[in-house]
Amino acid sequence: MEIIRTIAELKAKLDSARAKGSIGLVPTMGALHDGHLSLIERARNENDTVVVSVFVNPTQFNNPSDLATYPRTEEADTAMLSSAGVDYAFIPSVEEIYPEPDTRVFDLGPVAEVMEGAMRPGHFNGVAQIVSKLFEFTHPTRAYFGEKDFQQIAVIRRMVAIEGFDLEIVDCPIKRESDGLAMSSRNVRLSQEQRAIAPAIHRTLESSLSYADSHSVNETKRYVTDEINSFPQLKVEYYEIVDAHTMQPVDDWKETDCAVGCVTVFCGDVRLIDNIKYNVRK
Ligand code: PAF
Repeated sequence: MEIIRTIAELKAKLDSARAKGSIGLVPTMGALHDGHLSLIERARNENDTVVVSVFVNPTQFNNPSDLATYPRTEEADTAMLSSAGVDYAFIPSVEEIYPEPDTRVFDLGPVAEVMEGAMRPGHFNGVAQIVSKLFEFTHPTRAYFGEKDFQQIAVIRRMVAIEGFDLEIVDCPIKRESDGLAMSSRNVRLSQEQRAIAPAIHRTLESSLSYADSHSVNETKRYVTDEINSFPQLKVEYYEIVDAHTMQPVDDWKETDCAVGCVTVFCGDVRLIDNIKYNVRK
């Protein structure tokens, strides 16, 4: 595996790789775990060349302390990438990516206005900025994203449509710890006690599937929120049940053929997110 730190070198390497076959891109912010590895494995199976970017993108953080405390583990990351059979690890500096401020404002539309978009102003514009830059540098055949950030995938699809990128967005299922907690780079910031409680988030989402069979959308939202909040260490920021394509909240199960429940929970000062798909054929 080669570690690449400049855009010029990345473009040169990928120009010759592209001439030989397909390129799979896995964008990450590092602090890699098995969830990332599952994306990389899929990219490895489906492409001739695999490039993984590791870049903690400052423009998508609306909270400076979240940016400051985001885990950075480059040495462990590169060891992991190398044994996962990655061809190129692109690990640029902030100055390399943003030699001057990126003032682009993307028209991301309604998919970006709710949930994370409402709670974290500017977050999705920052995601669109960095992902569009990565797509310009790499021109991948396919790019891989995890469904834990369910809304992010919808926003990236919208950015791809408005910018006219010719590539396939591949969404990959959430990878979980054996106790159900969704894998996340932020999990390392949980104390032992918080880590023991955090799986209650997924357990509650799972139990809401059968609850939803005989209850309305609003009752199901209340059930999930109250159950999670019954743990003193957990505080739901939002629980929203949305259409899987438009990200718009639904009031009735009949309004959609695929409803997804998206939750954000504070466990101390660690913000965890998760989601679950409801079978809405009622
Ligand atoms: O999901 C992430 O880790 C980030 O939002 C991404 C897509 C790598 C952009 O910085």
